[in-house]
Amino acid sequence: MRHDHLLTAKQLSRADVETVLDRAAAFDADPGAARELHADKLLGLCFFEPSTRTKMSFETAAKRLGGDVVDMGSVESSSVKKGESLADTVRVVEGYADALVLRHPKQGAAKMASDFVDVPVLNAGDGAGHHPSQTLLDLYTIRERAGLDGISVGIVGDLKYGRTVHSLAHALTNFDVRQHFVSPESLRLPRSVRYDLHEAGAQVREHEDLDAVLPNLDVLYVTRIQRERFPDEEEYEAVAGEYRITEETLAAADDDLAVLHPLPRVDEIAPEVDDADAATYFEQAHNGVPVRMALLDLLLGEGGDRA
Ligand code: NCD
Repeated sequence: MRHDHLLTAKQLSRADVETVLDRAAAFDADPGAARELHADKLLGLCFFEPSTRTKMSFETAAKRLGGDVVDMGSVESSSVKKGESLADTVRVVEGYADALVLRHPKQGAAKMASDFVDVPVLNAGDGAGHHPSQTLLDLYTIRERAGLDGISVGIVGDLKYGRTVHSLAHALTNFDVRQHFVSPESLRLPRSVRYDLHEAGAQVREHEDLDAVLPNLDVLYVTRIQRERFPDEEEYEAVAGEYRITEETLAAADDDLAVLHPLPRVDEIAPEVDDADAATYFEQAHNGVPVRMALLDLLLGEGGDRA
């Protein structure tokens, strides 16, 4: 992989994805082998929005590679609270760390940060923009469960504000995948993403009704309605709970269907589904560690030469 930063999934070619996924599989098979690979490397964590999985799995990945993290902590406890700009924050943290993981509520924040620093910036979510490291672990999980070519993937929920959706949709255009987008009219994929998918020659269909497409799917990627991005609460209430996956939903699906979700879920997947063979979301969350180990290994240096 020949990139300094990971900002959007648009920058990932099929070869890039396969390089990361293959390396992640090697780490998965033999986690101990990575123990000394990046001893003394420090990863800077700058999270301006809540996170459990992304932050903790980046931290776990850094430690499993022999490195460590320096963490800005919460916005409340940092100098951001005193009015420090993002540009200043990242320029300071650059002096402490070998790479920066950034999550920020503003779309384009990671790109902006990358203009100010020389160390690799990994976009861990920029508003309703992108979340490319999530996409790599989504692809890893899909590859394990269904393979990445000749499949149909349904993506349901908040396609407008869901950054995991935007990144996944772009990355899937590298593969022979039919993409079915299921949402209420008001939460359709943004026009810019639809345009990019069209330009990439993607096989795309849009639906409002999940039942119509469900039996044809190999993978169902469920997403949370992104309440925090709605300009007004009434708009959120109007679409909340629109799609809820239950055991009954699964009865109409293919026996081999894999249900994914980037998590956290609110109520879009009923807890009863957790015991079904289709439930893949916790496995997906665990895959965040080997995939982020692979990503860091490649972006932090020597790994790139071994690719
Ligand atoms: C997602 C995010 O932050 O975009 N979470 C994650 O990183 N696993 C999805 C979400 O918040 O709904």
